Amino acid sequence: MARYRVGIIACGSIAGAHARGWRAVADDVELAAIADTNEEARTVFGEKWGVPPEKRYADFRQMLDTEKLDIVSVASWHTQHAPMTIAAAARKPKLILCEKPMATSLGDADDMITACKRNGVKLAIGHMRRFYSGWEIARQLVADGAIGKPRRVWSTVLEGLLNWGTHTIDGMRFVLGDPKPEWVLGALERKTDRYERATRIEDACAGLIGFAGGIEALVESDLTDWGSINFQIVGSDGVLDVDENNVRLMNAETGGWRTLEFEKNDPFAGQARGIVDWLDGKVEDYRGEATKARPTVEIMMALYESARRHEVIRMPLKTRVYPLDLLVESGHLPVEQPGRYDIRSFLVRGEQMTW
Ligand SMILES: NC(=O)c1ccc[n+]([C@@H]2O[C@H](COP(=O)([O-])OP(=O)(O)OC[C@H]3O[C@@H](n4cnc5c(N)ncnc54)[C@H](O)[C@@H]3O)[C@@H](O)[C@H]2O)c1
Repeated sequence: MARYRVGIIACGSIAGAHARGWRAVADDVELAAIADTNEEARTVFGEKWGVPPEKRYADFRQMLDTEKLDIVSVASWHTQHAPMTIAAAARKPKLILCEKPMATSLGDADDMITACKRNGVKLAIGHMRRFYSGWEIARQLVADGAIGKPRRVWSTVLEGLLNWGTHTIDGMRFVLGDPKPEWVLGALERKTDRYERATRIEDACAGLIGFAGGIEALVESDLTDWGSINFQIVGSDGVLDVDENNVRLMNAETGGWRTLEFEKNDPFAGQARGIVDWLDGKVEDYRGEATKARPTVEIMMALYESARRHEVIRMPLKTRVYPLDLLVESGHLPVEQPGRYDIRSFLVRGEQMTW
C-alpha cells in the first residue's frame, strides 16, 4: 500500500497532469480523493483516474475534513490558489502542491507561505519545468562555466505574463542558479478588458530584470505573434539556447552551435518523484519549494508596479496587492474597447464564459 494519500482540488486540464505524475510514483502515492464544484468534471476525472464515486467531493473543504490526506494538489484557477492553499494548510497535510502562478499578489504568496509554516506543511509550487532534462542540463552547463559569466537573458512569451511568463521567469532563475532579483523596470499596454482564467491581465508587456551578479533579463509578453516559454542566455564566453527538449550551446570549443543529446522526460513525473524524495527526507532543498517561487511572483508584480509608478522598482517590492488592479481601478488605464473577455473562456464548462 502506498505511504502517502493525495487529494486533488479542481479536476480540470492540469489536474490530469498531476494525476499522471502521482501515478508515476504509485508505489509511494495513492490518488485517494478528488474535489470539484462541477459534477461533469468530477465524473470524467474520477472515471479516468479510478477514483470511486464516494471519494468525489463537490466541496473541497469537505474532502479535506473527511479524508486523511498527506498531500493536497491545488489545481484551480489563479485567484483560488491562496484561499485553497490556506484552507488546506489549516488541515495539516504533510505537503501541498499548488499550481502556477503561485499567487496573483505578493501578499497572497506570503500568506500561503505563512499558513504552511504555521501548520508545519511543506509547500511546493507547480513550476514543474524545473524538472525538464533540458533545463537541468542547461543549469549544469551554466554552473560549469560553459558560457562564462552569464550577462543577458532574452525571452518572448505569449498569453499573459502570469500564465507563460511565470514559467519563463522561474526557468531562467533556475538555470542561472536562482540569483536574487535586485530591480525591475516594466511597461505595459491594456487597451482591451483582457482576462486569463478570471484574472485581469495586460494586452502586452515587457520587463527588464536586474539580478545579482550583473545579469539582466528581458521578458516580453504578447508583443509578437510568436513565442515560447524557453529563453536564450548570453554569457561572457558563449551562448546557450534553453529549450525543454533541445539545448544548443555555442562557445570557443564547439566551433558553432552544438546541439546536446538527451532523453526527453515527463516533468510531472519528475515533480512527483521530487516531492516524495522531499517528504522522505532524501532531498532537503526541493527545487520547487514555495520560497523559490516567491521571487518569480515578486518580479511579475514589480513589472506591473513599475508601469504603475513610472519608476524602477528596487527589491524588496513593498506592494502587497495586484498592481494591475490598482492601475485599472484608479482610472489610470482606461480600456479603449470596452467588453470583458477571457482568453481561457474555452475551459469553462456549461453556459458560463468565466467564473
Ligand atoms: N504547470 C502548467 O504547465 C500548467 C498548465 C495549465 C494550467 N496550469 C495552471 O493550473 C491552474 C488550473 O488551470 P486549468 O487549465 O487546469 O483550468 P480548468 O478550467 O481546466 O480547471 C479548473 C477546474 O477548477 C474547478 N473549480 C472551480 N472552482 C472550484 C472550487 N471552488 N472547488 C473545486 N473545484 C473548482 C472547475 O470546475 C474546473 O474543473 C491554473 O492556475 C493554471 O495556471 C498550469
